[in-house]
Amino acid sequence: MRRTVESESAAPTNPLRDAQDRRLPRIAGPSGLVIFGVTGDLSRKKLMPAVYDLANRGLLPPGFSLIGFARRDWADEDFTQVVHDAVKQYARTPFREEVWSQLAQGMRFVSGVFDDDQAFENLKATIEQLDKERGTGGNFAFYLSVPPKFFPTVVRQLKKHSLSQGQGSSWRRAVIEKPFGHDLESAQELNRIVHGVFPNQEVFRIDHYLGKETVQNILALRFANTMFEPLWNRSYVDHVQITMAEDIGIGGRAGYYDGIGSARDVIQNHLLQLLALTAMEEPASFGAKALVTEKLKVLNSVRLPKELGLHTVRGQYTGGWQGGRRVPGYLEEEGISPHSVTDTYAALKLEIDNRRWAGVPFYLRTGKRLGRRVTEIAVVFQRAPYSPFDATHTEELNNNALVIRVQPDEGVTIRFGSKVPGTQMEIRDVTMDFAYGESFTESSPEAYERLLLDVLLGDANLFPRHQEVERSWEILDPVERHWARHGRPEPYTAGTWGPRAADDMLARDGRSWRRP
Ligand code: BG6
Repeated sequence: MRRTVESESAAPTNPLRDAQDRRLPRIAGPSGLVIFGVTGDLSRKKLMPAVYDLANRGLLPPGFSLIGFARRDWADEDFTQVVHDAVKQYARTPFREEVWSQLAQGMRFVSGVFDDDQAFENLKATIEQLDKERGTGGNFAFYLSVPPKFFPTVVRQLKKHSLSQGQGSSWRRAVIEKPFGHDLESAQELNRIVHGVFPNQEVFRIDHYLGKETVQNILALRFANTMFEPLWNRSYVDHVQITMAEDIGIGGRAGYYDGIGSARDVIQNHLLQLLALTAMEEPASFGAKALVTEKLKVLNSVRLPKELGLHTVRGQYTGGWQGGRRVPGYLEEEGISPHSVTDTYAALKLEIDNRRWAGVPFYLRTGKRLGRRVTEIAVVFQRAPYSPFDATHTEELNNNALVIRVQPDEGVTIRFGSKVPGTQMEIRDVTMDFAYGESFTESSPEAYERLLLDVLLGDANLFPRHQEVERSWEILDPVERHWARHGRPEPYTAGTWGPRAADDMLARDGRSWRRP
């Protein structure tokens, strides 16, 4: 009897065994990935390196296979060389010849356009051959890294050629890149088409922000601790600012970006997801269903202010200086019409009509060619209701704030007042910092690594469901319609923090944007 007790209590303290146990359930079973649009930027810079990094971390099965599908007239070797170069240039983890050669053996290329029936038959034959040669077990995910206008054709072709359904217990999944529609109506239409082919639980919509460690940490911060949640409500919070600022312009993405603009590009998805995670109630569990329930509930309570002219701002960058070099304005970018009214900056105020948040504004802003690259969520607390200190001695004291630094410099900062050393009671802001780099030795996986692995595991926690996507369009659509009716975006100089009107928008509420 005593021995049993000893061996039971001894087992969990073996650190090596524990570490292995934790990793094991996260290794994908027999499977493969088909990437449509494999010649695109996303595929080269994110997807191919992520596949390699997963293999390098031992998280892919030995027979894992990667099929590229695109118009180019490539042989398997050409495709393998492209993946090789992409991995060498962009992978996060070191290049190891033995990992690469095992992965490379499972690479195939299928050449064709999306409405080419023969190409889809070739794809089918390639999959069947890989099942035999590499034991992929008929389990394949189809990654649609293609412009949205091709989504319907590709999913219909998958159905037509009997590729969308696995045999027996094998699975077929669809992975869909954003933008998922450009308004509510188009998103609903796309959902109808996709769900006509793949069952709901086999559709994975990518919002890569949810794959970021710092974004997943929002839930850990809020629900694994006791000290934040009691303050996380209208009694203590003055307002919340969610910022996603980029220093880059649109680069070579004119074709995608023009006519879409910053709000559709990132507010509809990334920023509303950040808002949902920041504002939602505690989910019953961290399973996909419970998370969606809570995210959807809070998104359903989001309300736009009535006066959209006063509480939304859109901007467009003009030429300026950035990082010591001259950069063109949006209208001078290659492929952009000089008359374009596309927004490269957007800011809006949202209210949340529920007991926790009534009266607490959530300000969202994003922009290209801003002062620097930073994404953060700042929960700004109310001032103390009464200050016993001399007003002149608290001049440099701001509101307390908790800032979740999503990127770069990932971590959390708490800002609060502290006495300045000396003979009088002068109080000034200080900060307390948590930085990932200092607290953990492991580096964070790239978002796409996490998300691709989750697709192969069939784990849907970090993927927005179609109801969230549609609700997010429902929130944004009136803003887009308002902008379409009212003039041009406000100009702002590249390298600054956006148009004056955005500062005025907050100033009218007696507040100001943070300068991260
Ligand atoms: C994408 C947008 O979703 O996110 C891009 O389409 C943007 O316009 C990118 O540049 C930013 O991603 P990250 O991970 O660098 O913040």
